[in-house]
Amino acid sequence: MIHRFKVSDFRCIETADLSLSPAFNLICGANASGKTSFLEALAYLGRGKSFRGASTNNLVRHGQSEFVLFGETENNGRSQKIGVRNSRDGLEVRVDGSSEGGAAALAAALPLQVIDPEVHNLVAGGPELRRRFLDWVAFHVEHDHLHAWRRFRRALKQRNAALKAKSSPAAIRSWNAEFVELAALLDDSRRRVLDIALDALAEYGFALLGTELGFDYAQGWNREKTLEQALDEGIERDLQQGATQHGPHRADLKISYDERQARKLVSRGQQKLLASAMILAATETAQTALERPLLLLLDDPAAELDAESLGRLLEAVNELGCQVVATSLAEGALASPAGTRVFHVEQGIFTPA
Ligand SMILES: Nc1ncnc2c1ncn2[C@@H]1O[C@H](COP(=O)(O)OP(=O)(O)O)[C@@H](O)[C@H]1O
Ligand SMILES: [Mg+2]
Repeated sequence: MIHRFKVSDFRCIETADLSLSPAFNLICGANASGKTSFLEALAYLGRGKSFRGASTNNLVRHGQSEFVLFGETENNGRSQKIGVRNSRDGLEVRVDGSSEGGAAALAAALPLQVIDPEVHNLVAGGPELRRRFLDWVAFHVEHDHLHAWRRFRRALKQRNAALKAKSSPAAIRSWNAEFVELAALLDDSRRRVLDIALDALAEYGFALLGTELGFDYAQGWNREKTLEQALDEGIERDLQQGATQHGPHRADLKISYDERQARKLVSRGQQKLLASAMILAATETAQTALERPLLLLLDDPAAELDAESLGRLLEAVNELGCQVVATSLAEGALASPAGTRVFHVEQGIFTPA
């Protein structure tokens, strides 16, 4: 939960200093007024990166040399001050004055999810987004997930470096034991959180799409084999490719929809609903584990959705009880709940309604 948010020189926003509602906030403005930039700035403060995939230097307002973001968060009665500054010297992160935790400390202080017009990629795009989706839940639900993930990444890098250097099969095999051990940690924790999230996934899927959805973890190597066997048998191919072909870095979350593969079947609007259902389920799962409301950013939720679908999405969002910052072209276009705090934005300048 973030109750105060200050921005300077981020994209088209020269300065903004907003007092946000713990419930529903609505940012209204014409095209190119700065709505998405505002959400991008909020998300940057909670992640240390852009959800639009923009490089950090492109986020600095044209003609300026740095941007600064600052927020006051509150979680179960505990307030924190968090800040990010990007200048020529690089990125500086502060959580209550300390720069030690980096982006992970931001994510712990301001956990958030985003539903934007690109959200359908979670369903229609490649497996990486779905792995990240699962890892996000795991990061908030499983205490050791981040640590296991980082150690696995290091082991993968070392093994891949040995493959690229065309080391002998014996030298490459010598990495396998550690690789397999760390892979098992990551694999276990993803399976556990998927298990925890399954009810919520089915529930939100039904609420938004009116159909039964299935979610299945594909581990990233042949189910009939142990990872050791898969690595052993795949060593020639790994050497050819210069990269490890089997392991949890190749995992996927398979979604079934009316007993067929969702990504082949559904329309863009349905993909957006399905992806939104997944994000709401992840948010609820993390909220339950953390025992506090999270922040949900809804960028132009009306895009691609008919009135009825948009209504169902907003109803599900309201039931979730998280803090929301949504954007819309016009104030009346989104049926936001009573007590919504509205801001108008024009050329990067925000005014409370
Ligand atoms: N680094 C930057 N400096 C200044 N302006 C920028 C920068 N990056 C993007 N813009 C401008 O910000 C404006 C607002 O963009 P955006 O937030 O996407 O608008 P909206 O979501 O309201 O349609 C656009 O006109 C864009 O050209
Ligand atoms: Mg926009």
